[in-house]
Amino acid sequence: MCGIVGYIGNSSAKPVLLNALSTLEYRGYDSCGIAVKNGSIAIHKDTVRVEVMQLTSPALDGTVGIGHTRWATHGEPSSINSHPHTDCTGKFAVVHNGIVSNFQKLRQQLTKEGHVFSSETDSEVIPHMIEKYYQGDIEEAVRAALDEIEGSYAIAVLTADENKLVAARKDSPLIIGVGDGEMFLASDVPAILDYTDRVIYLEDNDVVSVTKNAVRITQDGVDIDREEHRVLWNKEDVQIAGYDHYMIKEIHEQPRVIRDTIGDFLLSSDAAKDSGIEIGDDLSTLSIVACGTSYHAGLIGKYVIEELHGIPVRIDIASEFNHGRRTIRPSVAIAISQSGETADVLSALKRLREESVKTVAITNVPGSTISRVTDQAIYTKAGPEVSVAATKSYIAQLIALYQLALSLPGMNRGIKRSLISQLKQMPGKVEQILDGTCGIVSCAKFLSKHENVFFIGRGINYPIALEGALKLKEISYIHAEGYAAGELKHGSIALLQENTPVIAIVANDNTYDAMISNIKQAKARNAPVIAVASEDNEDIQAMVDYVIRVPRTGNMFSPVINAVALQLLAYHTAKFRECPIDFPRNLAKSVTVE
Ligand code: G6P
Repeated sequence: MCGIVGYIGNSSAKPVLLNALSTLEYRGYDSCGIAVKNGSIAIHKDTVRVEVMQLTSPALDGTVGIGHTRWATHGEPSSINSHPHTDCTGKFAVVHNGIVSNFQKLRQQLTKEGHVFSSETDSEVIPHMIEKYYQGDIEEAVRAALDEIEGSYAIAVLTADENKLVAARKDSPLIIGVGDGEMFLASDVPAILDYTDRVIYLEDNDVVSVTKNAVRITQDGVDIDREEHRVLWNKEDVQIAGYDHYMIKEIHEQPRVIRDTIGDFLLSSDAAKDSGIEIGDDLSTLSIVACGTSYHAGLIGKYVIEELHGIPVRIDIASEFNHGRRTIRPSVAIAISQSGETADVLSALKRLREESVKTVAITNVPGSTISRVTDQAIYTKAGPEVSVAATKSYIAQLIALYQLALSLPGMNRGIKRSLISQLKQMPGKVEQILDGTCGIVSCAKFLSKHENVFFIGRGINYPIALEGALKLKEISYIHAEGYAAGELKHGSIALLQENTPVIAIVANDNTYDAMISNIKQAKARNAPVIAVASEDNEDIQAMVDYVIRVPRTGNMFSPVINAVALQLLAYHTAKFRECPIDFPRNLAKSVTVE
């Protein structure tokens, strides 16, 4: 993970670098640092958040520099291990996102040659390698260093001798922001939105040299052109807009996100054809790969596609898919990833592509690596998501999966019409939850005093139990487990007692009676029960301790409504516990290591 930035232009580099870094903290935030050149290179780095560094860093003059926000892999978070790293002479400063997998061998070799290392990081070998190969041409030196480096990297290099930045990427994202008389380097688009909407997405093995007026991109030393794009996101999308946290802002954006994601799909007279989803003729078996919250979206996608089409859908956690034995070759594989950069998903895609499987990405980030290595990309319209806990990007994934399912050939027209009409109502239903508190805040207050919680769901809402538990764990640090409600009795019920709340998702479908039995089983063990139930369910109140009321929807779409209610529950619980909601400990939003 980690976020890197670079700036070269006429403005003072330090405030630009720190401002850009502040938008990349979702990538890691255990420490940060900047290097600015003014003749020689001055560095400031520390184990603080960027907002603290903005207040405490010394004056660093200069109009060219690089910056980094870290999610530690090699070496604990410390000032020494923070980036930028330098060589022995202090002439080269480097920020790195990725892993140098052969760093031990390189470090031993460099040490023998007289290089002295100060950090425990893998990244520090890079400036030393550049120093080793520098003979007056920084691009040549970077290329020579990268030739020996194995692993993944996005790097930005600052040199005291030349007025330019050099950068390169392999398996880690890097973009160039093109301004008027100024240029930016960044791991992701939000970093440049305050300055420009012109972007060049770099490809693997690109080496770039950037001055304030020009960009030179080479591959193996040969000049190449890369297209410049206009970014559709704007800077308002990454502002907190008066909310207490980005997470709650992003939860409140969800009606808009649903509308935008379904946009053209609902306008079209033949929704299936014009949805832009063309996943091919052979749909005999589908496969889904994803991680984390995206995996939970995939579980619902599996349920919906199997239910509507009877097509078998295999779903794998991407990191397991990469090591597991394969029994079927899917006709189409769908990779779900909000960031479009997750290393485990990329590895799974590599394997699928080697087997010539057609691949489709569902991602929120145009130009992301996953969108470029798949045969087709379906873009969700969540806009940039700042809070580390995924909320609006998840709801957008669900909507994209519904659309995908509705677009597959062979659906009964009547059923399809009815489902599309229900889909159209979803923004309004989500607004209903957001408008009223639905009892969520009082449940959150109650939950905030506990340390162990079970979420139980059935059928299409079982993945919502998993996601509800994940959201609560991530941001409130309460231990939570998501369970298929019927499984609880096969072991974990041993843990239920008066201080172990159970959150039961009560759907109005064929799982209703079984869920009521599960609630009674929990109550019989004195566990307090919070039910998430539809607004017109009059019976539930008498059976449980708390009810979170949600609008009634068609069965197929109930996960959307229940997910939003559980996002709010996690948010308010974490707020009562005074947790750092947007940037929970140890996490990062874009996980580019396996
Ligand atoms: C990280 C994030 C999660 C996310 C997962 C997969 O762990 O913290 O919120 O669900 O990565 O990310 P992706 O970008 O592939 O959806």
